[in-house]
Amino acid sequence: MKKRTISFELQVFDTMDELDSGDRELLQLAIEARKDAYAPYSKFNVGAAALLRNGVVVIGNNQENASYPSGLCAERVAVFQAGAKYPGVAIKSIAIASMSQNHVVGSPAAPCGNCRQAISEYELRQKEPISILMTGEKGEVIKCSSLSDILPLGFSNAYL
Ligand code: THU
Repeated sequence: MKKRTISFELQVFDTMDELDSGDRELLQLAIEARKDAYAPYSKFNVGAAALLRNGVVVIGNNQENASYPSGLCAERVAVFQAGAKYPGVAIKSIAIASMSQNHVVGSPAAPCGNCRQAISEYELRQKEPISILMTGEKGEVIKCSSLSDILPLGFSNAYL
């Protein structure tokens, strides 16, 4: 038996002001998008903004449903819309902003496992990393340089 360690680096910013202007603008678009989330059940709003290689930003927000599993997360609304509208155009970066209607979200909520898997498909297809930028309502902003960092040992079509 041998052991293998998987590690990765995150960039941690004390506030949004420390980000470069491109990342700050993208995160601002995610913050705006989260206002329009349809989240009457969880009261947890998420906004996502995906920057494409052609400069277009596609936004998404969570869309809930009375039949709970029928709803969809912000990140998948954004990347599926990007895939549908701009097929073949690489996604460079996705900014994600969360907030609660009940309390202040003090640290960035990372994308759920299903969203990581969905974004991973795009990253593998385009053979270029997708960086992920995350914020709550206050506190640190976190950036990772590739989706694959936060989905170690991920499943892919290489196994099919
Ligand atoms: N949600 C997202 O939009 N993205 C995530 O990565 C995690 C969770 C949404 C789904 C649901 O509408 C609400 O947040 C609470 O789980």
